[in-house]
Amino acid sequence: MIRRLTADDVMENINGLCALLSDAVDSGASIGFLPPLDPIEALAYWDSVRLAVHDGSRILLAAFSGAELAGTVQLDLCMRANGRHRAEVTKLMVHRGARRKGLGTALMAAVEEAARAEGRSLLVLDTRKGDPSEAVYRGTGYQVAGEIPNYARSANGELHPTVLFYKQIE
Ligand SMILES: CC(C)(COP(=O)(O)OP(=O)(O)OC[C@H]1O[C@@H](n2cnc3c(N)ncnc32)[C@H](O)[C@@H]1OP(=O)(O)O)[C@@H](O)C(=O)NCCC(=O)NCCS
Repeated sequence: MIRRLTADDVMENINGLCALLSDAVDSGASIGFLPPLDPIEALAYWDSVRLAVHDGSRILLAAFSGAELAGTVQLDLCMRANGRHRAEVTKLMVHRGARRKGLGTALMAAVEEAARAEGRSLLVLDTRKGDPSEAVYRGTGYQVAGEIPNYARSANGELHPTVLFYKQIE
């Protein structure tokens, strides 16, 4: 089941959200953090998401398997006057125990639906080149706009390229 979380839901699910983020970071995902993830850093991150959800600039979708949080994705709504038609898809994460069952793809479909409901017609995102997420984005109709070398550092200290994607969703 995929549903939109409110700011209060973020607090209610804070343990699951922190566990999901830690699991993704530990799995080597390039999502802004390096392992080992400090629990305080995880809490601070989700608190920043809670505030963005509260002020209406962010949509947070969560996939549950029973009571367990299995995945999330976010939509960062551009609030600038010239960008109210676009949004950035960020932090798609599926717990390692729930991967390769279509959940990442389902979250991408749900976030696209949420973007449409907000009147957003252009979606953008980026991901480390060669990651599983690249296959998910290609498979869900995103076009490659280009790539930037040496964009993000991995846990072993290497710099990796990022691939920029976009999708018009009319
Ligand atoms: C990216 C991620 C969300 C995918 O979630 P998922 O639920 O496993 O994705 P899906 O099951 O919908 O996969 C859809 C397709 O993507 C491709 N894919 C997904 N994971 C893959 C992998 N590890 N290796 C190769 N292809 C993969 C496959 O084509 C897959 O279809 P198939 O299983 O029928 O072959 C998950 O791997 C994850 O959480 N990674 C860590 C966080 C991360 O890097 N997020 C991206 C930030 S930009």
